[in-house]
Amino acid sequence: MKSRARVITWVAASIVLLLAASTIRCSPSEPKSARRAGASDTAIAAQKTYVAPGDFDEYYMFASGGHSGQVYVFGLPSMRRITTIPVFTPYPASGYGFDDDSKAMLGNFSWGDAHQQALSETNGDYDGRWLFINEMNGRIARIDLRDFKTKQIFGPVPNVEGNHGSSFVTPNTEYAMMATRFSIPIPKGTYAPIDKYATEYKGVAVGVKIDPKTGAMSLGWEVLMPPFDYDLGDAGKLVSDGWMFWSSYNAERATGKLEVTASQRDRDYIAAVNWREVEKAANAGQGDLIGGVKVIDPKKVPGLVYLMPCGKSPHGVDVSPDGKYIIGSGKLAGITTAFNWEKVQTAIRNKDFTGDEDGIPVLKYEDIKDAEVPVGLGPLHTQFGPNGMAYTSLFVDSAIASWKLGEWQVIDKIPVTYSVGHLAVAGGDTEHPDGKYLVALNKMSHDRHLSVGPTQPETEQLIDISEEKMKLLYDGFSDMEPHYAQIIKADKIHPIEVYPKEENKNPLAVWDVNQAGATRQGNRVTVKMVAVRSTFTPTSFEVNEGDVVTVAITNIEQVTNEAHGWALLDYNINIEVDPGETKTVTFTATHKGVYAYYCTHFCSALHQEMQGYLLVKPK
Ligand code: CUA
Repeated sequence: MKSRARVITWVAASIVLLLAASTIRCSPSEPKSARRAGASDTAIAAQKTYVAPGDFDEYYMFASGGHSGQVYVFGLPSMRRITTIPVFTPYPASGYGFDDDSKAMLGNFSWGDAHQQALSETNGDYDGRWLFINEMNGRIARIDLRDFKTKQIFGPVPNVEGNHGSSFVTPNTEYAMMATRFSIPIPKGTYAPIDKYATEYKGVAVGVKIDPKTGAMSLGWEVLMPPFDYDLGDAGKLVSDGWMFWSSYNAERATGKLEVTASQRDRDYIAAVNWREVEKAANAGQGDLIGGVKVIDPKKVPGLVYLMPCGKSPHGVDVSPDGKYIIGSGKLAGITTAFNWEKVQTAIRNKDFTGDEDGIPVLKYEDIKDAEVPVGLGPLHTQFGPNGMAYTSLFVDSAIASWKLGEWQVIDKIPVTYSVGHLAVAGGDTEHPDGKYLVALNKMSHDRHLSVGPTQPETEQLIDISEEKMKLLYDGFSDMEPHYAQIIKADKIHPIEVYPKEENKNPLAVWDVNQAGATRQGNRVTVKMVAVRSTFTPTSFEVNEGDVVTVAITNIEQVTNEAHGWALLDYNINIEVDPGETKTVTFTATHKGVYAYYCTHFCSALHQEMQGYLLVKPK
């Protein structure tokens, strides 16, 4: 809405909507949705979320796709779902997981349970370069925001069983952090009976190092942790920079029916890990080789890890924008605790400990807390706004509470539908939150949309937080399961439109149809193919039954939105090549006969003519 004309259009549209809304109110056939609880003021909500055709949204929201193994991209405030980035799961729509490179990246997995994504940061604010996302099978992926494509899947990391406490980045993206949900005897593959859980099963915290230029991930270090379930994390900022915080449950070290056995104690822990000191220890060569990596035991190297008692079964642990407070709640409680970082440091200096867990000192709850904020039942996750504002999701209450750091009183509460897990505020986990919008990531959505049978989507509810009174603006829906999302100002991301020709270093790339064709070495056939509107060259090629065939397709277009797909029928091959890209696919010609290949992506009026034949001569 930059130009005046657009503003006028928008104002006109708003007036129309206002009139329409007032008519609805007077009408006896008022829609059901306008009357029920959790409904919004239609006119205001319509104005605030309406993005006129051709206009752009103000924010991107990147939401974890849970066990779909993908990332969903939304525009805010319209809540339009713009695209899906496949990460841990093959995705036929973009040919992901079918070509040689993405197939190799997925390894032996055809799924991943993605939980928390992390936008890369510079000086504690999103820099719009990369998006990291974890996955339970011990992996973290990097998506390049230049082209919204997955570029690396790192892992499975040794000694990790259930990579839940991940992929939180440090304020200058030095690391993406990882911590284990499940403890096992390590290295993986070691047997120990379940009754030895408390002593022989271990968790680990992992620093996955990130190359500041390329974003490439490598293994930094591992720290041995007691067998608790590490859940969520957040890196310290400013005054607490250099520290990493993870919530954990099952301080009981229990097994069996955890809902009972792991709820006996009043408190669980937030683990505070001094990652800069861990880094120094690792660089100094300390640690024992376990599973092929050096693992540092805090019992042998003191001063690296401390345990902060918190309400039992905590989920989120969130560091305030100034780094001074660490917010953590027991998810069965009615309060959330604000821990004071200065008090934590004083307690560490004074060795004000109540005991230890496997040699890790335990701090005293009363000495490190500043306040218990009566937010409501089931506090899960806190995000921040400008001027000390904080927003906590309440799973049991199905509501969001707003409150202020330092004042510790609830300011407003808004019901959400229903059972909110995480929440996302624009810039809400950075040093400079935007505020403005909040999205509640709800687990239940029944009765909020047309019925689609027993399996229902999840709701992402957009809430206006620009004023003290929060207002519900929009219900969005998605597949399971956005565990977490981040909202970034759209102007921080600068995607490319085509891959420039000069960047294509693939040795099999050909840019001229005269260079296209098949060559043979023994039983290996390499086909260099050109795709350009509306022909594949060659239009047919012949191999012998049993040959190993590599087809390298270069899309020589240099205009945006001109992708070509290449599907080979009966061979389970379906790839997609963006303008300027070369993709390769390798297969064995196991079926004799003649098979068609064709373009799957509507590219021109003669898209339907874009086809060819693979001829497989029988042995
Ligand atoms: Cu190329 Cu359709």
